[in-house]
Amino acid sequence: MRGIDEQQERYAALDRVIENYAGEEGQLIRILQGAQEIFGYLPEEVQAYIAGKLGLPVSEVNGVVTFYSLFTTEPKGEYTINVCTGTACYVQGAQDILDDLRRTLKLTGGDTTEDGLFTVKSTRCVGACGLAPVLTVNDEVHGKFTRRDVSRLIRMYKKRSEVKAGDQISERPGTYQEQSPAGH
Ligand code: FES
Repeated sequence: MRGIDEQQERYAALDRVIENYAGEEGQLIRILQGAQEIFGYLPEEVQAYIAGKLGLPVSEVNGVVTFYSLFTTEPKGEYTINVCTGTACYVQGAQDILDDLRRTLKLTGGDTTEDGLFTVKSTRCVGACGLAPVLTVNDEVHGKFTRRDVSRLIRMYKKRSEVKAGDQISERPGTYQEQSPAGH
């Protein structure tokens, strides 16, 4: 039930974004940006919903989504790993690192792990060639990265996600339980 409620809330938030920007110049891009912030990505049903609200053909909305690289039609993981495959990184083995990451995370079809924790992508030069090979995880940069670092990196972010989840649980009101004194 909670899933349905959350989805309804997201569409309600999207309605507000549409009301805000409808009729303005560049409305479609602004609305799509807002929708991506709300949903995390732009699945077909969201594109169709926006098209319906604005009275546009779905193909026009889809054309904009596929044209701009800032839009994504696939859900993203909690951590997006971007492996730089620019020249400096490539010659230092970036492709092997990318392959190892995908293999270790068992990514065969898509770019995102089944548990929604990681998305793995390649990217062009991120401007840190002196640290090649380089990868980024969300906005953190990891330089002089080697294949031996792959497992450690994955463990580190898994752990971080667990800690974050634990913090969120203990922050929820009513979930704090006092420890009984030892022996009682
Ligand atoms: S080529 Fe990778 S940071 Fe420049």
